[in-house]
Amino acid sequence: MKIELSEAIEQLSIRIKDPLFVRAVLSGKRRSIQPEFVRVDIKPVLIKDELKFQIVSSDGKKDLTKNVEVDFSFSPLFLSGYANLQVDTTTESYSVKISKKDQAISGISKVKLTRELSHDRQKQRMLAESNHVFKALEMSDLLGRIKPTKMDKYKQVDEFLRLMNQLIEGELSEQKDLSIVDLGCGHAYLTFAVQEFLMGKGQKVSILGVDERSDSKIHNEEIAAKLKVNAKFLATKIADTPNQKVDIAIALHACDTATDDAINWAVKNDAKIIMVAPCCMHQLQTQIKDSPEPWGLLTKYGLVKERLVDLLTDSLRAQILKLLGYKVDIVEFIGGEHTARNLMIRAVKSDTSPSQIDRERYLQMLDQWQIKPHLANLLAQELKTSAKV
Ligand SMILES: C[S@@+](CC[C@H](N)C(=O)[O-])C[C@H]1O[C@@H](n2cnc3c(N)ncnc32)[C@H](O)[C@@H]1O
Repeated sequence: MKIELSEAIEQLSIRIKDPLFVRAVLSGKRRSIQPEFVRVDIKPVLIKDELKFQIVSSDGKKDLTKNVEVDFSFSPLFLSGYANLQVDTTTESYSVKISKKDQAISGISKVKLTRELSHDRQKQRMLAESNHVFKALEMSDLLGRIKPTKMDKYKQVDEFLRLMNQLIEGELSEQKDLSIVDLGCGHAYLTFAVQEFLMGKGQKVSILGVDERSDSKIHNEEIAAKLKVNAKFLATKIADTPNQKVDIAIALHACDTATDDAINWAVKNDAKIIMVAPCCMHQLQTQIKDSPEPWGLLTKYGLVKERLVDLLTDSLRAQILKLLGYKVDIVEFIGGEHTARNLMIRAVKSDTSPSQIDRERYLQMLDQWQIKPHLANLLAQELKTSAKV
């Protein structure tokens, strides 16, 4: 309903001071005023048993957090150029939209929210929820909040960026021109986020997303056009991806042996950094009929066998990379909508030659379990030449 702007601001100010106040969001931009931030979030917090308001302002890339006293006057902030203002209590959501003609339209809806006063700062995100990339990917709503159905993906992307950033800062900090290939990119949530994140760090990025689904390529090219970024997409099998220069090869939940195809492609193209978060894995599960004793103790339980063989698969992937001269670690990643598997294999190319003990342990493992990982078949030539296995 139409309402005087002053009355709307008064209503918002009363509601934010309500003991049942949960959160407020300011976003969008009025016709003639440029707000300082893309989005502002306000919530009540308890700091040393004292109630305060926490204001998190985002410029679309970084968040700035400050805490203010309960008598803080929010009216100037409400009038600083945001077009959409929303204040939620535990039972009501009060929203005000300021039109191009500076007319205020208010609305009230029923909600059921919990007032959470924890003062822990929200995890510092690598890319803010309100980043325009997430809007273009339809992961966020009009207020720049990640949609509940996309929250798992957002968290995966965020954690992936965090783990990637550690490696880039450690290994490629001098390089300002990076070539990235995302293998099994799907709808390219990670691809575009990586590009946006690295460009935000002042890096020149060339990016290629590969997926066998041609609808993914069409979708991703539309998003690239919308974002006006230079990202290329190929609809092909990972195994058929043409060779090219690659600094960082990534694969997020590429199914089953597609992760092996991604590692194989990355190794053959001399990737400096390889980061894969594997998904479902079946290949070794079907190979293992009998286990070397006393491991039968674990493999007799289907669930335990499945987890053990998953770990075996990833450990052997890591060992193969190690034998091929990569420094490898396996770190905790984040589970998601498709998988509870939460490991990431990170490998950095180095000149170290494999040790005899590394070769022996690898060969013993294959021998005792009577297995041949798919990745070992794909990289048979390289393993023979470089690692003599
Ligand atoms: C679980 S989705 C993950 C997509 C994306 N990486 C993400 O995390 O949002 C796996 C994707 O890998 C693609 N894929 C699976 N096997 C592939 C292969 N051998 N070659 C190319 N793409 C493959 C599928 O089409 C699918 O889009």
